[in-house]
Amino acid sequence: MNNKYFLLVCTLIVFLLPQVLSADSSIKIDTEKRGEPISKYIYGQFIEHLGKCIYGGLWAEMLMDRKFYYEIKDKFDPWTYRNEPFWDTDYYRCLSASPWEVIGPAGTVTMDSDNPYTGKHSPVIHGNKSNEKTGIKQSWLTLKKGQKYTGRIILTGDKKAAPVKVQLVMKNGKTLSKEIKNISSEYKEYPLEFVTPASCGDYGNVSIEIFTEKEGNFKIGAISLMPADNIKGWRKDVVSLLKELNAPVYRWPGGNFVSGYNWRDGIGEPRDKRPPRKNPAWQGVESNDVGIHEYMELMELIDAEPFVAVNTGLGTIEEVAEEVEYCNGAKETPMGKLRARNGHPEPYNVKWWAVGNEMYGSWQLGHMPIEKYTEKHNKTVKAMRKVDNNIKPIAVGEVGEWTQKMLENSSDYMSLISEHIYVKEKVNIPEHTAQLAEAIKGKAEAHRKYRKEIEGLAEKDIDIAMDEWNYWYGDYIYGELGVRYHTRDALGVARAFHEYYRNSDIIFMANYAQTVNVIGAIKTNDTTSTFAATGMVLKLYRNNFGSIPVEISGKTGDLDVAAALTKNEDSITISIVNPTENAQKLSINLPEAGKKSKAIKWEIQHHNPAAYNEPGKKPEVDIIEEKVNIDLSKLSIKKYSIVLFKIPLSGKTKDVKEEEKDFFTD
Ligand code: AHR
Repeated sequence: MNNKYFLLVCTLIVFLLPQVLSADSSIKIDTEKRGEPISKYIYGQFIEHLGKCIYGGLWAEMLMDRKFYYEIKDKFDPWTYRNEPFWDTDYYRCLSASPWEVIGPAGTVTMDSDNPYTGKHSPVIHGNKSNEKTGIKQSWLTLKKGQKYTGRIILTGDKKAAPVKVQLVMKNGKTLSKEIKNISSEYKEYPLEFVTPASCGDYGNVSIEIFTEKEGNFKIGAISLMPADNIKGWRKDVVSLLKELNAPVYRWPGGNFVSGYNWRDGIGEPRDKRPPRKNPAWQGVESNDVGIHEYMELMELIDAEPFVAVNTGLGTIEEVAEEVEYCNGAKETPMGKLRARNGHPEPYNVKWWAVGNEMYGSWQLGHMPIEKYTEKHNKTVKAMRKVDNNIKPIAVGEVGEWTQKMLENSSDYMSLISEHIYVKEKVNIPEHTAQLAEAIKGKAEAHRKYRKEIEGLAEKDIDIAMDEWNYWYGDYIYGELGVRYHTRDALGVARAFHEYYRNSDIIFMANYAQTVNVIGAIKTNDTTSTFAATGMVLKLYRNNFGSIPVEISGKTGDLDVAAALTKNEDSITISIVNPTENAQKLSINLPEAGKKSKAIKWEIQHHNPAAYNEPGKKPEVDIIEEKVNIDLSKLSIKKYSIVLFKIPLSGKTKDVKEEEKDFFTD
């Protein structure tokens, strides 16, 4: 063979071999062979007081350390830089000292701990005789043009300090100002309102200054500033994405956070008076602006069920029982009375309760050996049920000795058992996308085994709540744990859902960890937000996939395929994930649909497995919806894609949305 000919043959082999090897896949869908219905709760979410999930993500407050947890010092040095070797992250910025900078000479600000408004101290601003500007400022706000901002400041001080000014200073030197002329000798709340001009662009690096140019002293109790379009304190743009996500249940408030959280810190009015604390498990300050009432309001706003995690780490059993009474007790009970005083006489009737979080881990506050923990768990649940016998307690599990002992010793004290899954990055893309699904399968199989091996367990039918699951790798771009998600992760999340569907007999709930910024489905900056690549998948499946899984037989090759009938059994949804770098052919034999079908098709696809979405920019990884006529025997599935078809069976259209009916019936 001469060289030229040899080269041509090699080139042909290189290009044609993958096509030959990726032989066509051919499957049959049998709608009579069904699995257990898919629980809607597998589309659950998890929000934790950590990084920029709640504060800096969901909650609309724009000011950091608004209640002055940190002492304000002459030396302004708010940030430290940390990395997480275990997760192999680059350095990211954390607030570790006051974000408030002194305006004026050294000694201008002292901290008063004799009569603080809240927490352990409040800053006192000392005016000076030369009428120099003295006060504090924070310098990294972003304001939108033509937007109203509202808030309040709580002050007390000498009359001589008046007027105190609260001022927004733009980079171009323009200011928006509020003057407080009557300073009271007691703490008093003064409303704030600013409207940015509509004429110019958005403003970055805006400072907020609080100062006097007079001689007297004044003390600041707390200050707050939010865009006026916030909904009960929640960010309007983020709430609107949560509504699209349509998750049926949200686990809250942690995570590791809960094992050091005292729920009483998060209740009581005014909200400004709730004490600021150091986040017990993570970096940063917990302002306690979001507590039980705010969380419940969010649940109501987005029509989701609450799932409250209680502290079985450093917390006591009494505190947990009181929390249950606070949420579910009648308004005549001691805790119910307190709840009514805080504005909500009606019980919240929380059904889902996470009894602790990852108590098996040495990193968990209050971690203890399993033998001790099963005792604590049982006593805690007894006390919780004494308050409300209708609750559904979800126990801490971790496949292995921990889950086994929990199931042996505590199965009478749980409705579900939790498991967590986090996976990292793998270089090989199909392998990367298979990880979550493999882990889910592993957990399901282990639990089926426990049911066989532990006497009396099978009858109790204790299903799994996978109440934290996700990818967790890469740099913290959106604050602590704020990793970015890519096409490859979206493919993996879709495969994870397929696995949940295949294990619908034993997995009842799953909570994607987490919702905003922190390993989150939604990413935000100061003014805008977007679904991350994985968030697109959560939204797609939650809103469109059927609920009665049906059997698929045959050869799926490199593809991952799942199918389910819709609730009224008149449509079928078929989803296909192609995690490979080649388009793949698929032939589906579905007798009820015939060969040629009308279908709604949704596709998430990107040629680049590393593509991602960024707030403020058009999504790279998006859902494309179209009405199509398909030949099920000749489907071509693009590389790195997720395709979901919805096909009405024999012209039935009950489960078809109004706007789709014409297409299917003409
Ligand atoms: O979701 C982030 C953390 O991961 C949670 O706080 C903890 O439960 C898990 O280890």
